[in-house]
Amino acid sequence: MNVYGSVAELATALADSVEHWVADAVAARGSAHLVLAGGSTPAALHAVLAERELPWASVHIYFGDERCVPPDHGDSNYRAARETLLSQVAVPQENVHRMDGEAGAQGALAYRDLLPPRFDVVLLGMGEDGHTASLFPGRPSLNSDESVLFIDDSPKPPPERITLGFRPLNAARHVAFMVAGAGKADALEQIRRGVPLPAGRVRPQDGTLTFYVDRAAANQEHV
Ligand code: 6PG
Repeated sequence: MNVYGSVAELATALADSVEHWVADAVAARGSAHLVLAGGSTPAALHAVLAERELPWASVHIYFGDERCVPPDHGDSNYRAARETLLSQVAVPQENVHRMDGEAGAQGALAYRDLLPPRFDVVLLGMGEDGHTASLFPGRPSLNSDESVLFIDDSPKPPPERITLGFRPLNAARHVAFMVAGAGKADALEQIRRGVPLPAGRVRPQDGTLTFYVDRAAANQEHV
């Protein structure tokens, strides 16, 4: 777990790693398959990445999850990514693989056909209950082996979402969590103790796993 004094420092360090991982992927295979996280934390990372000279023309963008709302809705993860990153870098539009949230279960089925054999970089957030993407504690979806799922029981509104399942997450070359704020400290501590919360069940079989956290989430405010 990498602990940083501020979200800005966290975002800069993670952007450095993303830049390195993407460059390695493009050098090795001619393209990089990058999964963006939902929620609000990624905005700080996107602001830094938007200023970096990545080989954007060779990058394919995917989403860890999406709310079942139109792409211009205030809850849309796609809209947030477009506004904070995708509208500012030269990723070809055809390389942006949006989850068709408004299509619900059909959108989840369709997204399965868009997945690459392996993601190079998966960025994830974590909720205060230890959820990640739209994989929530105690939900039947945690036991699914499907690569992409439609769920209608999210305790974090809106209830209907499309999410990647554990299988593609755990097949990734590099997985990085961005976790900030004191509200996440309890879930993070549980995960460090081995409690199998959803974010703790992301364990790449043959890839790296790194938590990028701020002091508040690491419960190190006093140090
Ligand atoms: C979503 C996200 C979700 C998010 C966490 C953290 O669509 O809600 O994918 O998993 O990453 O809830 O959200 P914040 O970054 O807003 O705290």
